[in-house]
Amino acid sequence: MNVYPFLRPILMSMDAEKAHRLTISLLKTGLGPRYACADPALSCKVFGIEFKNPLGLAAGFDKDAEVIAPLFHMGFGFVEAGTVTPRPQPGNPKPRVFRDAGNKSVINRMGFPGKGLDYFAGNVAAYRQGHGKGQDVLGANIGINKDAPSPVDDYRDGIARLAPAADYITVNVSSPNTAGLRDLQRRDELDRLLEALMEERNRQPVKPPLLLKVAPDLDSAQRAAIAELALRHRIDGLIVSNTTLARPAALAPALKEEKGGLSGQLLKDLATDVIGDFYRLTEGNLPIVGAGGIGGPEDAYAKICAGASLVQVYTGLVFEGPSLVPRILEGLAALLKKDGFSHVAEAVGAAHAYGQRAAKAVR
Ligand SMILES: Cc1cc2nc3c(=O)[nH]c(=O)nc-3n(C[C@H](O)[C@H](O)[C@H](O)COP(=O)(O)O)c2cc1C
Repeated sequence: MNVYPFLRPILMSMDAEKAHRLTISLLKTGLGPRYACADPALSCKVFGIEFKNPLGLAAGFDKDAEVIAPLFHMGFGFVEAGTVTPRPQPGNPKPRVFRDAGNKSVINRMGFPGKGLDYFAGNVAAYRQGHGKGQDVLGANIGINKDAPSPVDDYRDGIARLAPAADYITVNVSSPNTAGLRDLQRRDELDRLLEALMEERNRQPVKPPLLLKVAPDLDSAQRAAIAELALRHRIDGLIVSNTTLARPAALAPALKEEKGGLSGQLLKDLATDVIGDFYRLTEGNLPIVGAGGIGGPEDAYAKICAGASLVQVYTGLVFEGPSLVPRILEGLAALLKKDGFSHVAEAVGAAHAYGQRAAKAVR
């Protein structure tokens, strides 16, 4: 039975973070929603991994990897747990998550609260006991502690600990809520960081794909530099994007002064533009995971046509609930069919001139 319609008004009346904690507790009961997507048009292979479908859960929902199995039961093609930091930390003072229901958007300044790498890795290992690699695609998003003396060592710890169990690892340099983190996106710092982290990854007996998650607030020179470095260091993909520091005019006045990153519908078009830019800058040679304001199948399709091979959602779930997953997947399959694509991979980058040529060639 779908209990979400009854639950929704209760969750919406609560503080956003408390509502989230209640949701995690309910998922832990194992009685959460179940949906399985079996449309072969949606299966895809990206950075060497087979995905049942291209819709993933974005980082930040399951920070401590506590509800991996119930999240897969919801129908996601992949789940990205984290961001996890090496040591436990409380994050920023509460309240630190704010909803703008009218715009289906959220501002958060969580600041990576979490129980740390030992707890996270234990949960991932426990999940893996019943679910071998290759069955479900589990990503681990890694970050740094607030008081990290050496950010690169914190990321190295994350890679070394999670490489055996995670299907891919995301290096998060784009949360706006850890001082100095986004500076790691600058050319020289990123050059050194990617060099060190690829070396760390390549040293592991099991070498999961390494992705870099970037902010949407990058000027064109920064985007070009990141694209060039990503290709040169041969990282496996980009996640575009994290939350924005922008404050669009439409944002509810009560939230305008809140510090933090904005996600949801008000981020949607910016994120899609940045995806398109990275697709162009990398000439379609680097897989992109698109995130930002996906609230229905058309939004997911727009990101795929802009150049995303996979997409992720978080804020949409806050406002639409778990039925968003089947709605996106079934709607996406219908949109692909309508446009004559027999497979989701054919639509990737279709909004670009050369993408369209490629798409026609495979049709
Ligand atoms: C409450 C909240 C917490 C988040 N925490 C993280 C995080 O820990 N790590 C991360 O990489 N992204 C985090 N994000 C960003 C999302 O993963 C995603 O990139 C962004 O919200 C855009 O997608 P959306 O509009 O579908 O939410 C968080 C987002 C929200 C709303």
